[in-house]
Amino acid sequence: MCLPTRHSQCLAPHLKWNPFMNCVNSSMELADPSDDHYCEQQNHKNGDTSAQSRIFIKNGLIVNDDQSFHADIYIEDGIIKQVGTNLVIPGGARTIDARGKMVMPGGIDTHTHMQMPFMGTVAIDDFYSGTKAALAGGTTMIIDFVIPAKGESLVDAYEKWRGWADAKVCCDYGLHVAVTWWSPEVAKEMEILSSEKGINSYKVFMAYKDSMMLEDPEIYNCFRRCKELKALPMVHAENGHLIDIKSKELLAKGITGPEGHAQCRPVEVEEEACTRAITIADQARSPLYIVHVMSIPSSNIIAKARKEGKVVFGEPIAAGLGTDGSHHFNKCWRHAAAHVMGPPIRPDPATPEHLMNLLANDDLQLTGTDNCTFNADQKALGKDDFTKIPNGVNGVEDRMSVIWEKGVYSGKMDPCRFVAVTSTTAAKIFNIYPKKGRIAVGSDADIVIWNGDATRTISAKTHHQAVDFNIFEGMTVHGVPEYVITGGSIVMDEGQLKVTQGLGRFVPTPPNSQYVYGRIDAREKALEPVKVDREAYAGPVVEVAAQETNNIHPKRAENPIVSDLTGEFHNRPPTRGGHQYDEHAPKRPGTKVSNPPGGKSTAFW
Ligand code: URP
Ligand code: ZN
Ligand code: ZN
Repeated sequence: MCLPTRHSQCLAPHLKWNPFMNCVNSSMELADPSDDHYCEQQNHKNGDTSAQSRIFIKNGLIVNDDQSFHADIYIEDGIIKQVGTNLVIPGGARTIDARGKMVMPGGIDTHTHMQMPFMGTVAIDDFYSGTKAALAGGTTMIIDFVIPAKGESLVDAYEKWRGWADAKVCCDYGLHVAVTWWSPEVAKEMEILSSEKGINSYKVFMAYKDSMMLEDPEIYNCFRRCKELKALPMVHAENGHLIDIKSKELLAKGITGPEGHAQCRPVEVEEEACTRAITIADQARSPLYIVHVMSIPSSNIIAKARKEGKVVFGEPIAAGLGTDGSHHFNKCWRHAAAHVMGPPIRPDPATPEHLMNLLANDDLQLTGTDNCTFNADQKALGKDDFTKIPNGVNGVEDRMSVIWEKGVYSGKMDPCRFVAVTSTTAAKIFNIYPKKGRIAVGSDADIVIWNGDATRTISAKTHHQAVDFNIFEGMTVHGVPEYVITGGSIVMDEGQLKVTQGLGRFVPTPPNSQYVYGRIDAREKALEPVKVDREAYAGPVVEVAAQETNNIHPKRAENPIVSDLTGEFHNRPPTRGGHQYDEHAPKRPGTKVSNPPGGKSTAFW
């Protein structure tokens, strides 16, 4: 179904922007006093929020990731002060009766791009409408991405994002920083960001050739640097070179519509990059977080890597769990273009359920949305060429309900697992647990009172996002937040949303999360390279052959393979603790050598 365009005439009149691709110093002005968001901010600054500073939630079922139990909660000054029964509550507290409802930690969306300058335009949901929508859906914290242009200072980009976000956010937020180019300065700035600015996750792109993509050696260096800083490397895993080639082929065939987007980057393109990223991280001895896992093969690769003991985390997103990519082939261009994001939402209809099954069983760990929204007129930048359609879809408002519907209501996960994948695991990975992600004394009062039986029907006509399209349009979902409390303020009150611009705070994410790094050092020690102490080779060495003019390959020396029959040389691997360390490895009957001593042979010997 195609909906009429809202906000289609402009990007919001108070926003001044420069396209990301060409601009290192893109800037955006903050709220205009004539805008209604600004009034809300003023009300907050002049007004009285003390009526809500004491809250008593009684009779609810508290659900944490590891247990659920009946108890009451007392909140004061934004912090959970008491959890239990027969609590003694000071006067003046607002009482909420949560009988029959679940009381959960507010959702943490690990992956958003509010007002991101991207592909010649700026994402239409800014830090105000984006966080307002997040709260409407039960998410009380987002983690957004700072995306420096190639050559731009990471610290400057960080300050720019903070300037955009601090004045507008209605809930708490954290930041990841993308590493879009590599140099010693970048490595130095990562240290500043990690030690002074509260950044401890860095995303590299294997896609978006010519704008954000890094090559393998740069990725390796970045992962090593993350490891030194005890920060978490994240990766957008798609083979950017293949995408570039395949899009040109499709355009040459006259396939210019959004269906080209899905076909230029099939699952194999994600699968290959996912394997490569895991291999690079494993060799760099770093952990790895794979963002927006969209396909069956890549999710299986992550599950397998984890079973092999690699420290890898996989993040599916609401779009991939809640809908499928058949929409790219819709006859309506706007409808099809609205679903364009990278990696693509997969046309294979089995994909969402597969991703949900893995998420339910901890083969995948947590969820974000990659919320990065563009209106019809912005998507239209690619009306004649799918490679120019700004990539991104909605999700921040609907993630919790979509996962409840497809995960809990469907019987794949219990409410504790729901809390783990929507909140607690994010808090653990990004090292803000138990301040966030838990209902416990001392934790932030970011709380959702959830009615798992109530339903709502998702629509762009009623959602709180600025974008004019919703990829979940018409989906009826169980699971509705009846109350949402952020930092101790009730912002969703019996279904009524009343947010405050600028109320949210930046939440620094400290380094060295034990959930991530707990076994990294021991793992590195166990995998340390082996050095063999042996007497120096004292025999003859051939002269290096002069390079032949017409031959780019230097002449090969004699094949260095030696037999261990001489008693002088050994080609068996060295021992560890008296055992051959490959003694359990499957043995091959022989070794094929292209140039064995005594002449070339095609046989095994
Ligand atoms: O399509 C997407 N994913 N847009 C946002 C940029 C990114 O790759 O995360
Ligand atoms: Zn990405
Ligand atoms: Zn993203």
